[in-house]
Amino acid sequence: MSGETVISYPQIFSGFTHIGSCREFVWIPPDGSGEMKFVIRDLKCGDSFETLMLRKDLYLCAESGEEYVVKDFRLLDITDPKNIEGTAENFGVLADKFPEIKSSIPIQNAMISKPTQLLAIRSVSGLINAVEAQKRIPTRETREVAAQLVAEIANTPDAILNLLAVKAYDDYTYAHNVNVATLSLMIGHAMGLSRNDLHSLGVGALLHDIGKLRIARDLLNKVGALNTTEMEKIRQHPRTGYEMLLSSKEIGEWSRLIVLQHHEKFMGGGYPSGLKGNDISLMARIVAVADVYDALTTARPFRPAMSPYLSTKILLSNTESQFDPAILAVFLRRMSIFPPGSLVKLNSGAIAAVVRSNPGAMLRPVVRLQKDAQGREVNPSPEVDLLLANNLYIIGPA
Ligand SMILES: [Fe+2]
Repeated sequence: MSGETVISYPQIFSGFTHIGSCREFVWIPPDGSGEMKFVIRDLKCGDSFETLMLRKDLYLCAESGEEYVVKDFRLLDITDPKNIEGTAENFGVLADKFPEIKSSIPIQNAMISKPTQLLAIRSVSGLINAVEAQKRIPTRETREVAAQLVAEIANTPDAILNLLAVKAYDDYTYAHNVNVATLSLMIGHAMGLSRNDLHSLGVGALLHDIGKLRIARDLLNKVGALNTTEMEKIRQHPRTGYEMLLSSKEIGEWSRLIVLQHHEKFMGGGYPSGLKGNDISLMARIVAVADVYDALTTARPFRPAMSPYLSTKILLSNTESQFDPAILAVFLRRMSIFPPGSLVKLNSGAIAAVVRSNPGAMLRPVVRLQKDAQGREVNPSPEVDLLLANNLYIIGPA
């Protein structure tokens, strides 16, 4: 984008939280010093000003509906809180930059289209705002999003899983709920569930952590060990969520049971009821796998993200106790342990980058060689389909 950009009367969001609005947002491209600056005129944001100062990225929604992102911003001058100035690392139209996905796969191969991901994340954010404002839970939107996710997954079963990456810590809940729904539906579809069941699964997965909205954010994001009282509070969220949904006629009991049972463990010892095996509903057992996988592959305030490789290993090591082994087997068959863009080490000693996964063969993707066994750059690097190259295989992540 070159030249000054002026956006009139935009709504301002930070993460997915509405901050307020302003009369004018002006983006000033780099001057001689290389600094990229912006000015916000006539800001109206009340108590949200502190939130604004703490965040990393800003989102603007213009009256025309066009959306922009201001990446990595810093406020420079806040002497007059209505007219502020700042610098940022980048500025652009949101559709080009969002949603960021956890791996760089061509969008036409993605399981969930970008508009549907945006629709889903908006629906989750609307849901959270409604619950926080003590308003009626917008269940119709959740049902519509679930129907859309089911349709896309059913229509493109061989597409590559694309999960949303978290942009700011507070956005974890939004992206996580959409990812858990995507992963759950991918598993449910591979297990041959009916359209109706997939729909209930999608709704329940989108809502699975709704009970957490009754827990203080400080406690949810706490770094360090929780004491017994804090742990007890967190462990109430499945039951709280179930009760919150009891009065919503549009949410069926199968979806509600997902909310109630997604922390139960297959061999017992989970919460809130310590159920075992098939006493836990099939859909809750599916969501349990999706929930833990997405949580592990996402960075949280208390730990960095783990690679898909490591996360899958952790899931596998839990087979005996936590997860339904049959569901885990379906999940692993459908997953790519090495997502496109990741680097792997081959048995020949060469290093390769994953280009695309081979559906159904998670350990044998198509790769492009980067370095040979002696560590020399390979140029130009040929593409190798590990499904066809019998004597070449991955020995681990590089
Ligand atoms: Fe949960």
